[in-house]
Amino acid sequence: MKAYAYAPGKIIICGEHFVVYGATALAAAINRGTTAEAEPSPTTTTIYSKDFGIQADLSTNNIPERLKPLAATITAVKEHLDEKKGVKLTIQSDLPPRSGLGSSSSAAVATAAASALALGHKLPLEDVIKLAMSAERIVHKNPSGIDVQVSTRGGLLLFKKGSQPELLQLKKKVRFVIASTGVERETGELVERVRVWRERNPSLFNSLVESVTILSRCCAEALILGDLKRVGAILNFFHTTLSWLGVSIKEIDQIVEAALSSPSALGAKLTGAGGGGSVIILCSEEGAEDVVKSVSKIASETFITPLPNKGVKTWIKKS
Ligand code: PMV
Repeated sequence: MKAYAYAPGKIIICGEHFVVYGATALAAAINRGTTAEAEPSPTTTTIYSKDFGIQADLSTNNIPERLKPLAATITAVKEHLDEKKGVKLTIQSDLPPRSGLGSSSSAAVATAAASALALGHKLPLEDVIKLAMSAERIVHKNPSGIDVQVSTRGGLLLFKKGSQPELLQLKKKVRFVIASTGVERETGELVERVRVWRERNPSLFNSLVESVTILSRCCAEALILGDLKRVGAILNFFHTTLSWLGVSIKEIDQIVEAALSSPSALGAKLTGAGGGGSVIILCSEEGAEDVVKSVSKIASETFITPLPNKGVKTWIKKS
């Protein structure tokens, strides 16, 4: 018997960084993600990443850095289930790594759900979230939890740290182009950079946290109403604010500029921690292909995602 789980990556439409300090952010699951395959094993637990060609045996101390978060997730799952048996886990993702698209959290969510299923338990979503957060705490210094929430629940979420997220229903599908810079970065370092900025400008930062909450709610309302022009204007405003905070780089700004030169692009911004990673571009109804043309020469990878998309799903294959 083999157990499987697929968990999507995510985009943050608005509110990244400020969400760490209590602002409400808006995020959505995308059409790419991570698949985990897990088999029960009598005692040993192993992890193999097809993408990086690396493996780990959890009975040794020799675990590659990249696999440590997943090792922490499986250990948390086994403790939660009070299970002595092991799991043989293989993961594969079509998300570019360290690019602001939630590859680490989608891997953790898929790992938690698949390894529990291999051990005979279909976890409730709340437990998947709790267990995947043990990986997220290793990857990020101070995670808000938004990536894990979106990857598990799917859809489009308004999220505030420590509160139950609000799941939004869109009347009509929308399409975003995602363009990656190819520049990998560490979320923890960028979160730290913003922490320092906040320490130097505490009153201004606190007032921005309030503004971000208001704008995230405006953006959600405009998306629901299909007022894409208004959504685009809010995205552009967020990009400027994040650049001013110091988390954009030349490669990101060049993609934003190239995207906005297309009449089919309604708004563009960096998504996630910044410092590299990816840009999201909101497109007019028929305009996504035009936008792809405008950015594909300078981006390392470009794809289109419709919204909404489903969250984690699990299945079993009998051998
Ligand atoms: O790891 P990324 O690039 O998806 O960024 C996560 C979003 C932040 O707001 C920067 C951090 C957090 O924990 O919310």
